[in-house]
Amino acid sequence: MSRKATVVAPSNIALIKYWGTRDLAETLPFNPSFSMTLRECATRTTVEGIEGAGADNILVRVANGGFEAASESFAGGVIRHLDRLRAWADVDQRFRVATQNSFPMGAGLASSASGFAALALAVVESLEREVDPETASRLARQSGSGSAARSVVGGYVEWPAEGCAEGSAAQVFAAEHWDLRDVVAILDTTEKRVSSRAGHKLAETSPYFAHRLRELPHRLAEVRQAIGERDFARLAPIVEEEAIDLHLIAMSSRPPIFYWQPASLAVLQLARDLREDGVEVCSTMDAGANVHLLCTVAAEGRVVAALRGMPEVEDVIRDGVGDGPQVEDQHLF
Ligand code: PMV
Repeated sequence: MSRKATVVAPSNIALIKYWGTRDLAETLPFNPSFSMTLRECATRTTVEGIEGAGADNILVRVANGGFEAASESFAGGVIRHLDRLRAWADVDQRFRVATQNSFPMGAGLASSASGFAALALAVVESLEREVDPETASRLARQSGSGSAARSVVGGYVEWPAEGCAEGSAAQVFAAEHWDLRDVVAILDTTEKRVSSRAGHKLAETSPYFAHRLRELPHRLAEVRQAIGERDFARLAPIVEEEAIDLHLIAMSSRPPIFYWQPASLAVLQLARDLREDGVEVCSTMDAGANVHLLCTVAAEGRVVAALRGMPEVEDVIRDGVGDGPQVEDQHLF
């Protein structure tokens, strides 16, 4: 049996990126990653078992505020993950699932981390199962979106590459440790041409990938220490170096993948110019053209104003470090 359950799960932004999958079936990475869980960009998902139904029913929020049946490709991804969750829970239950993002759909912001974390946790809640954080992270990860493994935990989160039986992410520092902000410059709202899944598969074809893997332990230790000491001057160059390295691997994969746009480069330059001017800000990018500007609370106003002054910037989203997913009573149906 299952009851109606709703979970709100946030997205996250990686400071050390997961790029390259050593086990595609299990979504296990070549390298450890480290992220900051967000608070504003989140997915709300309601799940309820449907008695006697032969199929799942997947709904998404539409512009007029109502819900409609999800597209075939979106529903397919959700149902594949429901199948894995059913196998784990050993149930045959079909579900009604409704989902809504707090951030504009199609804004070019990755919603798979928050979406699959919310789905996994809502199914667990609906089936009234107790799971430890490692299991919750593994269930989110097995969706195929590795970054979802980090979205089930709040604050500053590390997902180790190995040495952890469950392949699960865990909190390194709570959100209260340091109130960092993430101001996102939305530059391109079209769907990216190459999915991150395809990028993960190609990473190993880059002649620079082995070099990246050698560099990462040092870079990860630096990020961990800089956050531990709330040392922005130490954090900024290493975060920027890491994001550029991800794109270097993508651009030197065979065939190459280009996620950057001219506007992305302009925003990367803006971050360096502001920093030279004493503003505590640095840039990072995922597998897309949009740029995340990480900054301190004191710097946030300057960063937002500077982005709003750029004609290339379509929209600005203000976010920051958050506490992780919540079970809520406010259901979507
Ligand atoms: O979670 P996936 O499989 O969509 O991969 C995410 C990859 C990056 O966002 C580029 C990096 C990361 O660690 O989040």
